[in-house]
Amino acid sequence: MPAAPTAAPLHEVPISLGDRSYPIHIGAALLSDPATWAAVPPSTQALIVTNSTVAPLYAARLEQALEARHKAVHIVALPDGEEHKNWQTLNLIFDALLENACDRRTVLYALGGGVVGDMTGFAAASYMRGVPFVQVPTTLLAQVDSSVGGKTAINHPVGKNMIGAFYQPRLVVCDLDTLATLPAREFSAGLAEIIKYGPISDMALLDWLEAHIDRLMGRETALVAHAVRRSCEIKAWVVGQDEREAGLRAILNFGHTFGHAIEAGLGYGQWLHGEAVGCGMVMALHLSRRLGFVDAPFVERVTALLRKAGLPTVGPALGASRYLELMRVDKKAEGGEIKFVVIDRPGSAAVRGAPDALVREVIEHCCRPE
Ligand code: NAD
Ligand code: GLY
Repeated sequence: MPAAPTAAPLHEVPISLGDRSYPIHIGAALLSDPATWAAVPPSTQALIVTNSTVAPLYAARLEQALEARHKAVHIVALPDGEEHKNWQTLNLIFDALLENACDRRTVLYALGGGVVGDMTGFAAASYMRGVPFVQVPTTLLAQVDSSVGGKTAINHPVGKNMIGAFYQPRLVVCDLDTLATLPAREFSAGLAEIIKYGPISDMALLDWLEAHIDRLMGRETALVAHAVRRSCEIKAWVVGQDEREAGLRAILNFGHTFGHAIEAGLGYGQWLHGEAVGCGMVMALHLSRRLGFVDAPFVERVTALLRKAGLPTVGPALGASRYLELMRVDKKAEGGEIKFVVIDRPGSAAVRGAPDALVREVIEHCCRPE
């Protein structure tokens, strides 16, 4: 007889935050196994927050598995897209909680990508001043980054993720099987956040990614599992030291200052978040070179890897003045001075200011002419 399939996680990565500690489970067939959810606080009610794309794929599977844990499992499917990461959509979560008379023990499950995860986390932080929530990321980007570390937020037309809270989940479950239905463009967007961890902290990961990028793009399970695990380990290490971004955690925003300007400048949803971050990393690398920290071959090395991962490496021509205006609305900006995450040597990052004239040169060099 063939052995029964096992849903035990392949890897468990702990996030150490005192009484807010929790594990990240990484593996296959985790979603539909009731054992996956055994450590979630017991409660009468649960709300699965998902979106119109993910609901038909995975909501029923999760709902069934949760029936052993909660008496009533409700589902709310939000409209899909970064352009819906706002107050109006957030309110749909509160509507579902209140219409079902959910109490303060109700557990929220964020089933989807980073947009669903960020909004569900923010709703969990605010509903009745805080209810437990679980991250069930179904995109590569969410599995390697957004589901981990407790940053939750919605966008404002003027700036991305400007309204939110730090609020940690009780558990993160990365079921690698869900990635099978992810479109190629979204998979590439997730690779951008994995590649990010190389230049900022782990040159061995960068070497490994260069050697395995083709097989990773082919979604070989063992390789994807390794990339997700290593990314979560690095993020767990950083967040464990600086949960609220007093210093070190800012390095995780490598590429994000330019990237957020691309997203807000083009209109949310035009470029994917991972695409904007990937291109933002190219721009931040050029800035690092002009500041004298890294050499041109290193910039080209990372750029070539991003290109192989199917990501855009030339920025949209918003105009240097518009980029600067958008980048001043950034959580790292201090008194209107833009702060950039730069690579101060391969495998290490730091936060620095830079003269506007130098930033303009970088933008003009890295963006398509108008
Ligand atoms: P997303 O949530 O928009 O998901 C991408 C697309 O994939 C969506 O259309 C979604 O419906 C679809 N999808 C999700 N899972 C799928 C699956 N298994 N099969 C098929 N389709 C699927 O985008 P994302 O890239 O996951 O996340 C980006 C968001 O995350 C941004 O809003 C960004 O600001 C945020 N983010 C947050 C953090 C953090 O620390 N909180 C970190 C990085 C990014
Ligand atoms: N994605 C950046 C952070 O979690 O800090």
